[in-house]
Amino acid sequence: MEKGAELKVLLGIGGGIAAYKSCELVRRLREAGCAVRVVMTRAGAAFVTPLTFQALSGHPVRVDLLDAEAESGMDHIALARWADRVVIAPATADLMARLAAGLADDLLTTICLATEAPMLLAPAMNRVMWEHPATQANHRLLQQRGVRMVGPGTGGQACGETGAGRMAEPQAILHALLGPGTGPLTGKRVLITAGPTQEPIDPVRFIGNRSSGRMGVALAAAARDAGAEVRMVHGPLGVALPAGVNTVAADTAESMHAAVLRHIEGVDLFIAAAAVADYRPRTAADQKLKKNAAEMTVELVRTPDILADVAARRPRPFVVGFAAETAELRENARVKLERKGLDMIAANDVSAGRAIGAPENSLTVLWPGGERLFPEQPKDDLARALIELIAKRMASGAETDSN
Ligand code: CTP
Repeated sequence: MEKGAELKVLLGIGGGIAAYKSCELVRRLREAGCAVRVVMTRAGAAFVTPLTFQALSGHPVRVDLLDAEAESGMDHIALARWADRVVIAPATADLMARLAAGLADDLLTTICLATEAPMLLAPAMNRVMWEHPATQANHRLLQQRGVRMVGPGTGGQACGETGAGRMAEPQAILHALLGPGTGPLTGKRVLITAGPTQEPIDPVRFIGNRSSGRMGVALAAAARDAGAEVRMVHGPLGVALPAGVNTVAADTAESMHAAVLRHIEGVDLFIAAAAVADYRPRTAADQKLKKNAAEMTVELVRTPDILADVAARRPRPFVVGFAAETAELRENARVKLERKGLDMIAANDVSAGRAIGAPENSLTVLWPGGERLFPEQPKDDLARALIELIAKRMASGAETDSN
C-alpha cells in the first residue's frame, strides 16, 4: 500500500458538473497526506473556478499550455515529472477521446502524454454519451494502455436521466488511488451484518422491520477508513452501498446466517448490526395467498441467531452485537452481553420510533468491566467513534481468541 505522505498527485479536472465533487476529493487527498497540484481544462474552469482549487490545494492552478508566466514557474514537463500519480476526475467523454487519440491540444492532455506516472480516471458524463460505442472503445483502449478506471456509478444524473455515468464518490476515488489506507484497523479483516431481513409469507409478502441499514453501512465505511478489509452481509437496504467494501446480499435470516458462516474464517472483528428477524413463517406459500377466510394464522418458528453462533466459535473474532431496547436499556443490554458471550454490545433506545431508520442516534456501549455513552449524533460520526473504541479494545488484548 502507498503511503499518502509520500505521494504527489496531479489532479486533472475536466469540464463536467461533477467537478464540484473534486473539491471534496482535493480536501480528502490532502487529509491523507498527499501533495496535490490541480490542472483544469478550459471547460473544467467554467464549472468551478481555479481559485477554488487553488485555495483547496494550496497551489496555483494551471489551465493554459501557452501561458508564458506560469510556464516560467513549473513548466508542463516539470509538472509531468513531478507527479507520482495522475488522477483525472471528472474525465469527460471528450477528454477520454483526446487521451485515447494521444492529442496534446491543451495543458492537461500534454501532461498526460509527457508523464510516466500511473493514471487513474473517474469518468463522468450523461448516460447516452457513456454508452456510445465511441466512448466505450476509448475506455477499452485506455484500459489496455494501463490507465486505471474508477466508476462511473449508476444513479440519478445532473441532466435528469438515470443510468451509468455518475462520477465515483471522492472516497471511492481515494480508495482506488491509495488502497485501504492506514488506521487503527490496518491489516484487520472485518465482517459486518447490516439492514433488515425479509421473511417470506408468500411470493409477494414478507415479515420485515423498519431498519434502513444506515448504521451497518456507516460502520462498514468507518472500518474501511480505519484501514480494514471489510465485508458486509446485508439485507435489503434503504441507503447506498459503501464503496471499497465487499458486499454480499442476503435477504432472509437463514441466508444471512449461511453467508456469515461462509465468510467468517480468518475474520478479526465481527459486528452484528443487522436487524435480523427472530422468527420466520414456518412455511412460505408457493402461490400468492387469497383472502378467503375471515381470519388467518401465520405460524412462526425461530431463526438461527447469527451473533450467538459466531460468538460460540473457537477460535473466534472480536464480537460486537447490538441491542434494541425500549426499557431498562443498560440492564437488558448487560444481560445480553453476558448471555451471548460478546466482547462488546451497543444498545439502542428504540422506544417511540427512535434510532431505527433514523439518520441520528445515541448509543450506550457496554463491555465486560466498562461502558461508554455516545450522545445523539449523526450515524456516520457515531460509527467512526464506535470503530475507534472497538479498535482500542481489540488492541488492549480483549480478544477472546484463546478462550
Ligand atoms: N441477531 C443475529 N441473529 C438473529 C437475531 C439477532 O445476529 N437471528 C443479532 C443482531 O444483529 C443484534 C443482536 O443480535 O446484534 C440483537 O440481539 P437479540 O437477542 O435479537 O436482541 P434484540 O433484537 O435486541 O431483542 P430481544 O430483546 O427480543 O432479544
